Amino acid sequence: EKLIIGVDLGGTNIAAALVKNDGSIVEKISNPTEANKGKDMVITNLMATIEELLGYVEDNKKIKGIGIGIPGVCDIEKGLVKFAPNLFWENVEIVKILESKFNLPVFIDNDANAAALGEVWCGAGKGKKNIVCITLGTGVGCGIILNGAIFHGAGNGAGELGHITVKEDGPKCNCGNNGCLEVLVAAPAIAKMGKEALLKGDTLLKTITDREKLTAKDVFDAAKKGDKVCLDIIGNVANNLGLAIANVINILNPEMIIIGGGVAAAGDILFNPLKEVVAKRALKDLYKDVEIVSAQLGNNAGIIGAAALVK
Ligand code: BGC
Ligand code: NA
Ligand code: ZN
Repeated sequence: EKLIIGVDLGGTNIAAALVKNDGSIVEKISNPTEANKGKDMVITNLMATIEELLGYVEDNKKIKGIGIGIPGVCDIEKGLVKFAPNLFWENVEIVKILESKFNLPVFIDNDANAAALGEVWCGAGKGKKNIVCITLGTGVGCGIILNGAIFHGAGNGAGELGHITVKEDGPKCNCGNNGCLEVLVAAPAIAKMGKEALLKGDTLLKTITDREKLTAKDVFDAAKKGDKVCLDIIGNVANNLGLAIANVINILNPEMIIIGGGVAAAGDILFNPLKEVVAKRALKDLYKDVEIVSAQLGNNAGIIGAAALVK
């Protein structure tokens, strides 16, 4: 049986695995993306990651192809990354570059689209026809499956939920706009709110000595210990995200909303207030059709979905 290389090219980490035809993972690795060091560095890191995985098979002929989830808008036919805000990429011919390097077929799609695909293939959305998968990581991604297939839109840009404007005069986003959902609820935004709270002092976060290293996970951990300031931060995130999800429900009437990405690991401390907001804001009649769950494949949804692009 041939194996597939599935890659989740994230804004912070490149996670990749050798994946079997049934979606199971044989070998998984992860390396830093180093997006701030420029496009060439990211491509170098991506190639090194793929190379490392190829080291586990005796012959490249054992590999069916390489699938990559891209954190941006892609032209999937031309194999082009049109725009990836958190990588600072515009018009990168990634498929051509990788195919000539590895001499294997390469397929790309948006990372959240891949995660959605992974979840309907062998995760929480198995057998479902109309689902939305939202990923919370460095950015906010959204993959839409309608009538059993990824909905790509006119130019493969459907589902750019991270860049809907939530706060007109909010912080600047890497896409150029201000106040996008992403700058209010993604992992860096949560960490930023934590850092601001730490400066004010009235929080468990003040035990963190290196302020620069404070992460979203620190905020969730403190909240789980009952830290009031961190609970407020999460309340704020749940509110902004909940409004967006309620809007998605009213537009698409999905049967399931799957929430993945690193931030989803926070669990109930985020999901409970989030569900309350959604329940309050979505149309009652549509809300009763929808289940809101965390990604069953966890942080592997993107990798497994990327492998599904090759399948
Ligand atoms: C990008 C999306 C991507 C998401 C998650 C956003 O900033 O615009 O295309 O899916 O981040 O990586
Ligand atoms: Na998408
Ligand atoms: Zn934006």
